[in-house]
Amino acid sequence: MTNNNFEIEVNKLTKLFGKFTAVDQISFSVKEGEIFGFLGANGAGKSTTIRMLIGILEPTSGDAIVSGYSIKNNPDMVKKNIGYMSQKFSLYNDLTVAENIRFFAGVYGLSGKKYEERKKWVLKAANLENMENVLTGSLPGGIKQRLALGTAVIHEPKIVFLDEPTSGVDPISRRNFWDLINDLSGRGTTVLVTTHYLDEAEFCNDIILINAGKLIAQGNSKALKTNYIKNPIFEIESERVVESLEILEKEKWVGETSLFGNYIHVILNDSTINEGTIVDLLHNKNGIGVKRIEKIIPTLEDVFIHLLEKDAKKNVL
Ligand SMILES: Nc1ncnc2c1ncn2[C@@H]1O[C@H](COP(=O)(O)OP(=O)(O)O)[C@@H](O)[C@H]1O
Ligand SMILES: [Mg+2]
Repeated sequence: MTNNNFEIEVNKLTKLFGKFTAVDQISFSVKEGEIFGFLGANGAGKSTTIRMLIGILEPTSGDAIVSGYSIKNNPDMVKKNIGYMSQKFSLYNDLTVAENIRFFAGVYGLSGKKYEERKKWVLKAANLENMENVLTGSLPGGIKQRLALGTAVIHEPKIVFLDEPTSGVDPISRRNFWDLINDLSGRGTTVLVTTHYLDEAEFCNDIILINAGKLIAQGNSKALKTNYIKNPIFEIESERVVESLEILEKEKWVGETSLFGNYIHVILNDSTINEGTIVDLLHNKNGIGVKRIEKIIPTLEDVFIHLLEKDAKKNVL
């Protein structure tokens, strides 16, 4: 459920720690009700950005409007109006499930009938009905993670920030967790989620990619794939991949190569080159059998590798 009202508007947000710039003038907007993916490698500046957006870390410069409030001028109102799940889940392991729910309800001032109603909702969302008295520390990771999300939105905020919620969780639990995220978004909650899993980026309505504190790409998954790589890209499965890769890299019509298990992706910088030229090079000139070759639409991984390599080259020059 998305529309064109912005729930977050970030304007040249910057954070320095001493002389080190952790977040460098980033600007983006998040629409009401959308799932917004925030991607970047470790140390890129994702958590620092989130900590500013939820009103607990003061920006060095720039500002953002979150749920109608300036993080710079009104951080306390921002804090009240958002939900937040930190990278290390915020739950207390030595409390029972019910005690954790009561604790977070207390933080957000829920009581009476509303509290009972929301408690029920959290238990259901986490799949913990009838397990209220279990010690939180003894729960499996996937369940704990759902409980953490449930408690983060117990006060029904219009927006929730999830910082790498699925790190180190098994694929089935990740999938279940995403069902819960979709459910929240379906009810109109705006979700900003950081991840380094590219398959999860595909579930997001909009995505930004940051590198070393700078925003280097934004758009939905389709726009990213069509806007950032214009040159033809081929997927090749050949007999000796590493050798094939070395041979291809020597050609001036080859822009970038990357290895995905037992196949290669090649981004060409000459659109007149076709399958025939590549097969001729590998098979006829070098005796390497080509099992499969096809022109493909780039994956998000291709796009991100391409952008990060471009960014790295720029920083060296
Ligand atoms: N309180 C701090 N003091 C100094 N440096 C910090 C602090 N918090 C984060 N950093 C640095 O800022 C950079 C971005 O960190 P972070 O936002 O945690 O990245 P991410 O969440 O994308 O992994 C890192 O180089 C990190 O070491
Ligand atoms: Mg982080």
